[in-house]
Amino acid sequence: MILLLLQLQFCLSIAAAACIQKEREALLQFKNSFYKDPSHRLASWNNGTDCCNWKGVGCNQITGHVTIIDLRLDIDQVGFRIAPLYSNNSIHSSFLELKYLNYLDLSGNDFNYTQIPNFLGSMVELTYLNLSRTFFSNKISPHLGNLTKLETLDISFNLLETNGDVEWIPHLSSLKFLSLRGMDFSNTSSLMQVLNYLPLLVSLRLNYCNLQNIHFSSSSWLNYSSFLSRIQLLDLSSNKLNGQIPKAFQNMTSLKYLDLSNNQFNSIFEGGISTFIKNNFGLKVLDLSFNINLGGDVFGSRYGNQSTGCNLQVLNLGYTSFKTKIPDWLGKFKNMKSLDLEDSQIYGPIPASLGNLSSLEYLDLSRNALTGTIPTAFGRLLNLRKLYLQENGLMEVGHECFAQLEKLEELDISRNLLKGILTEFHFANLYQLHILSIGYNELLQLDMKSNWNPPFQLQVFDASSCIGCVRSEFPQWLQTQKRLVELWLSNTSLSISCIPTWFQPQNLTDLDLSHNKMAGPFFTTIVNQMPNLRRLFLNDNLINDSLLSPLCQLKNLDTLDLSNNWLSGIVQGCLLTSNLFALDLSSNNFSGTFPYSHGNDLSRIEVLYLRNNNFEGSMPIILKKSKFLETLDLKGNKFSGNIPTWIGDKLERLKILILRSNLFNGTIPSSICNLTDLQILDLAHNQFDGIVPSKLSNFNVMTRKDTDGFPAICRNGNLDHGVVCIDGGKYMVQSIKSSYFNYSMIRLTLMVSIDLSNNSLVGFIPSEITKLKRLIGLNLSHNNIIGIVPAEIGEMESLESLDLSFNQLSGPIPLSLSKLNSLGTLKLSHNNFSGNIPREGHLSTFNEASSFDNNSYLCGDPLPIKCVIENSSELPFNKIDNQDQDEDKWEKWLLYISIIVGFIVGFWGAVGSLILKKSWRYAYFKYGEEAYFKVHATIWRSIEMLKGMCISKRIW
Ligand SMILES: *[C@@H]1O[C@H](CO)[C@@H](O)[C@H](O)[C@H]1NC(C)=O
Ligand SMILES: *[C@@H]1O[C@H](CO)[C@@H](O)[C@H](O)[C@H]1NC(C)=O
Ligand SMILES: *[C@@H]1O[C@H](CO)[C@@H](O)[C@H](O)[C@H]1NC(C)=O
Ligand SMILES: *[C@@H]1O[C@H](CO)[C@@H](O)[C@H](O)[C@H]1NC(C)=O
Repeated sequence: MILLLLQLQFCLSIAAAACIQKEREALLQFKNSFYKDPSHRLASWNNGTDCCNWKGVGCNQITGHVTIIDLRLDIDQVGFRIAPLYSNNSIHSSFLELKYLNYLDLSGNDFNYTQIPNFLGSMVELTYLNLSRTFFSNKISPHLGNLTKLETLDISFNLLETNGDVEWIPHLSSLKFLSLRGMDFSNTSSLMQVLNYLPLLVSLRLNYCNLQNIHFSSSSWLNYSSFLSRIQLLDLSSNKLNGQIPKAFQNMTSLKYLDLSNNQFNSIFEGGISTFIKNNFGLKVLDLSFNINLGGDVFGSRYGNQSTGCNLQVLNLGYTSFKTKIPDWLGKFKNMKSLDLEDSQIYGPIPASLGNLSSLEYLDLSRNALTGTIPTAFGRLLNLRKLYLQENGLMEVGHECFAQLEKLEELDISRNLLKGILTEFHFANLYQLHILSIGYNELLQLDMKSNWNPPFQLQVFDASSCIGCVRSEFPQWLQTQKRLVELWLSNTSLSISCIPTWFQPQNLTDLDLSHNKMAGPFFTTIVNQMPNLRRLFLNDNLINDSLLSPLCQLKNLDTLDLSNNWLSGIVQGCLLTSNLFALDLSSNNFSGTFPYSHGNDLSRIEVLYLRNNNFEGSMPIILKKSKFLETLDLKGNKFSGNIPTWIGDKLERLKILILRSNLFNGTIPSSICNLTDLQILDLAHNQFDGIVPSKLSNFNVMTRKDTDGFPAICRNGNLDHGVVCIDGGKYMVQSIKSSYFNYSMIRLTLMVSIDLSNNSLVGFIPSEITKLKRLIGLNLSHNNIIGIVPAEIGEMESLESLDLSFNQLSGPIPLSLSKLNSLGTLKLSHNNFSGNIPREGHLSTFNEASSFDNNSYLCGDPLPIKCVIENSSELPFNKIDNQDQDEDKWEKWLLYISIIVGFIVGFWGAVGSLILKKSWRYAYFKYGEEAYFKVHATIWRSIEMLKGMCISKRIW
């Protein structure tokens, strides 16, 4: 035995042949072609050591030739790349030395928009080649077609072009797995023909390829029967396929995985899902989600009884428009692990048959119109780990419905109409539970004994707006919860005057106690007991701490909302750190100047609300470095002095600038027109003099047709518990309600307004202003503006409110005003306008004399003064149809609701704008990789490549 072992060891030491000198040299040159290796991933690549032992290198045991290079860089959970290797050149030609290489994975590293080198085509031993996400660009090398041994090719998510040349693909005769995600094939209608030539292909990923129906025209399908019968994995998600899902998909006899999500399909072939599943017996994964108009008899319920899709494990139908009930037969899928019907407009009761899905681990029925009871049968889903039922109309919790779910980790039943009492019994066996969200069920109650010792350790507990869940006291049982990370108890009538000393969750990062009746000082306790807070919401309480300085000890604090409390005194500089990302101190009684000293630095702040306090002094100079600032609201203070020019020069992301009701003076610097993203400019009620800045057409958002909506700032919750958005529009709803602007709710996302009223501005109205086609509100009233109203004012087609009253404007009222069909408020009174009031078009709807009075030379309806000569010339004008009005009513309702809800409950828009656009949500929530491509690429690389396809919002 011992002999044998010795012999074996001997053999092994011989077998591990050292690497070949030439190949080591080649690898070293390759290493040197990277100018940056931030995480030292090539640290082991040293001359003088055996290259077969280097990290990421593998050799043939016998010959010693390098056969494997694996420098794959995975992305983390939220989609960030962690420290790629950076090369400013393409793959180094020294690679030619590695003649025996058969496995090459460089994915995730950065080759600075260079080309895939032609010589790669001569490395004919390659069986595996992965260059996905490597920032290769330009035309793809047709020499790749020489790699006839290649079994796996992944060149996804680069900036590669085909220019219609796909002839090299059929040469890859060994290919089994092909991934071309993110390549634009819109001009390559022959793509499927080409792929049909690959005799061994079983897995094909073509998402984000700009595929349209033309790629799959029904006549050509018949020719692909071998392709269709062979393919096992087909991913066509995120393309532009529309209409009916092609019948041909019914014939895919080997199919195991089909992803058609995020297209524009609106109906399914006859027989629907049930027939499909029956025909494709081997199917394990079916994803039709994010076809937001997909409806009709999608389930094929008429055929449902025969369905026997025993192998189906994942059925993803979220973000669609099914508008049906959940069919009973869904309960037949004994192997189903994941069922997702989120936001699919399903309604009615939840069938008890779902309780038969004994393998189910993930069930998401959230954001629908489900009613009735949460079935008791759910108690049989013993493998369930995640259950999402939030945002429905569910009214009751069936007895025992969760009690036995020992594996349940996440439970969200928030935002329903649940009533009744949850007791210890309901939670008795939930040992694994770590997210519990029951908020916004106003009639729900939790009834726990004060000494309840729950079987779980929660990380997230959300009982916002569930008064019966908290009963105005800090829940005793939280004492046992040592792992809490997020605690949301907003609007629960908490009326405490101190945080219990036993509550010391060391991991807590998010604490929301807003909209309660908390009175007294809290800061010191919070800081001592929860030192790791990142986000703290104490707004809308009765808190009266006299010093903010204790909060300075929260080293990780990035979001702080103390608005609407009884706080006073000065703001200590130590609070203003570069960690801070959102700060809201509005509606308190703070005074003094906004501190600035060496070491202060708000370089990362995005949202700053100081409105309605007693701050004084000049524009906070600390903001000079805040180049990410999007919202600055100083309304209702005593700030004074000029608007410094750096506002326009340095704060280039600014979207909302509100300086209303302060003591600012001087001229409005023209640099303010550099703020191309500005959506709201409110400088009213100050003491500005000088002229209205003229380069107004720089305000891009105001001139553009499309806008991104509110500057919402979103970041993932710690535990993927959704996304928290701090809505830059938080106060806009309020100010609209109270103002005379009658903005329609629909327009809120786009709202752009300029209000310079109640100052001492002089000079003319700059004619450039008429280029602001997106401007909804313009108020220049109560100034000393002279001259005429630009005749082209009718070009400002979005204008809903125009107030030029109390100035010294003269000349006629421009006829073009009659084109402004959206105009609801028009105030031209107290000026020197002359002539008769045009009564054409939309202008004829203004019948209040007050719109026009006190203009000595103005005459005609609706003024009592008759004109001497009636001028009846008619001006032709175009009716401007509001086409998009009907199109997305659903979304607009959601917008409306989310704003109202967010506003009423004061929950900082956690719903926010993410609910608005399903297509955005896709980017946020679907799979890490796509999200990575669509969203995060913006962050770590320049924006150009994503222009037009990406969201300007940022996730941190
Ligand atoms: C590696 O070392 C050898 C001698 O041991 C030397 O000839 C060669 O130039 C070195 N290569 C590099 C890239 O430093
Ligand atoms: C990337 O390539 C461009 C030329 O395309 C070059 O100007 C730039 O310096 C390169 N970047 C780096 C970091 O080498
Ligand atoms: C690929 O094959 C073609 C034709 O056989 C040949 O002309 C070309 O040089 C080859 N490319 C490489 C990189 O070896
Ligand atoms: C499915 O395949 C069969 C033969 O294999 C053929 O007769 C039938 O027309 C095909 N159906 C569709 C919808 O392509």
